[in-house]
Parts: sequence; structure tokens; C-alpha cells
Amino acid sequence: QEQNRELRERLEQLKKERNAIILAHYYQRDEVQEVADFRGDSFLLAQKAAATDAEVIVFCGVHFMGESAKILAPNKTVLIPDERAGCPMADMVNVDGLRKLKAKHPNAKVVTYINSSAEIKAETDICCTSANAVRVIESVDAEEIIWVPDKNLGHYVQEKTGKKLIIWEGYCNTHDMLTVKDVVEMKAKYPNAEFVVHPECRPEVVAMGDFVGSTTAIIDYCKKSETREFIVGTEDGTGYQLRKDSPDKAFHFASKFLVCPNMKVNNLKKLVKCLETMKPQIYVPEVVADKARLSLERMLQVK
Ligand code: 13P
Ligand code: SF4
Repeated sequence: QEQNRELRERLEQLKKERNAIILAHYYQRDEVQEVADFRGDSFLLAQKAAATDAEVIVFCGVHFMGESAKILAPNKTVLIPDERAGCPMADMVNVDGLRKLKAKHPNAKVVTYINSSAEIKAETDICCTSANAVRVIESVDAEEIIWVPDKNLGHYVQEKTGKKLIIWEGYCNTHDMLTVKDVVEMKAKYPNAEFVVHPECRPEVVAMGDFVGSTTAIIDYCKKSETREFIVGTEDGTGYQLRKDSPDKAFHFASKFLVCPNMKVNNLKKLVKCLETMKPQIYVPEVVADKARLSLERMLQVK
């Protein structure tokens, strides 16, 4: 605790010296979320990165989030506490594979989940996050739509919009781990609880949800709901904001496996160190960034 207090003091000092802003995803460790200027889901944090006046953005999340920040704010320095924090789902699609699929469907538009590399975004017409995926798909005027890389979110969006998508077979290792059996057991244990679930979960698990939404949507829903007890079907880091907003409500995570190891690679110590040393920095080649930016900016314009 004493060490964390010293680290937090050092961080405050460095933030001023460097004119830095700290963005943290809701799946980060509590000690990181605590010191963030903004906590949020992928969408909110992308918006914050695009709008900030700070010279340095420290992105506490996984690598694709830092990349998106750098693409949207090319003149800023973007730091990430540990560059090994990747996203396995983002790595499930490669440029070659996507180009082959595009060649098979030459008239298709490509909609890409933000959980993807800058190179994939550069091959994309429009990006989306789980917060705006339905609206983004509704905004796309095309006979055929290629959807990468999350098959679970793809199925959800397909159902919501009634549009048929050409779906890539990627998934989030963490959310995809949650099974119907887990949820049935939790519902038996907590019969009065509502089940709130992220659309990165399997379709049959999502179908059991009393509420389905992005990380921010789940947090907002639980805060406003009259219900006092929830079974939570998303990553366990969201507990920090859920309990902060509603200390009198109970939150039971639907499985002990709902922990993203990549998100937990970052910690307070590494956060302070990266601002001290100004590395590791996110770098995206200009030719890639210029193309990828269009797909992200189109997403930010969808109302
Ligand atoms: P959101 O932040 O859009 O809810 O996405 C969840 C996620 O898995 C981020 O890596
Ligand atoms: Fe990737 Fe899933 Fe972790 Fe998000 S929670 S970073 S989608 S592995």
C-alpha cells in the first residue's frame, strides 16, 4: 500500500511534467483504473484519444487500443505500459486471409471490429466496437458485408439487424469460455439476479441474457436498474466500476475464467515506468495509419 502511494505520487508528478493523459479500459487491474483520467470501453477511449489536448496518451489496455489511439491522434506520443499486452482475437485475422476473402466477394464492404491490427483496419471500410456495432451495420449500404474478426459479435449483430454477414471465425478467448452450463448453475444459485452479458460471448449464452451490451452499456444498465443483484457475463475488471457505482448491489461473475490475462499484464508500476522512460511507444507506419484512420473516423461519425 505504501509502495502504491509512492507510485501514485510519482505518477501525478510525471503526468504534469509530460502533459500526459491516462486512459484505462474497464478490464484493467483496479490499481490502474484508480489512477486513470478516463475509464471506459473501447469506444469511449477511442473518442477520448481522438479529442485530447494532452501531448502524451498513456493507453492502459491492449495493443490494438494503443494503435487506434495513435492512428486517431498521429501527432501525439502514445505509450502502453507493457507492449506484450496483445489481444488473441485481433491476431486471429491476417491481411492475406482478409484480402483473399475480399477477392472472393469483390462488391462486399468490410466492417471490422476495433479488436484488430492497424493493418487489418487499413483493409477496412468502417470499424465498429461492441457499443455501436448494430448502428454501424445498419449504416452500411452494400449487398454483401464481410465481418471480421469476432464470430460471436457477428452473430449477435446479424440477429439484431436481420442483415446476413460473411463472418470470420475469430473469437475472444475469455468471453468465449463462458458456457450455458455456467450460467444455468449461477441462475440456480442466485435466482433473483439479472444476467447481464457481453456480445463477445457465445450466441447460446447471449440468448440467456436479461441485458446484452458493451462493457459501458452493462455498467450503465446495472447502475440504473432497480434490480439489486446481477450475474455478470463479461471480464472481471468491470467489477471495479460496477461496485464503485453501486456499492449496495451484488455482482457475481458468471465464471472464474472471465479474466483476460492480456489486460492484466499492465500494472501501476509499469504505468509509472513507461511515463518515466517514455517507452514502449506505439508506432504505426504512416501509409497504414492513413488508410486505417478513414475506417476509424467513419465509425466515429455514425450516430
Ligand atoms: P468493449 O470495450 O467494446 O466492451 O470490448 C470488450 C473487449 O473485449 C475489449 O477488449
Ligand atoms: Fe481480446 Fe477478449 Fe482480452 Fe478483449 S477480453 S483484449 S477481446 S482477449
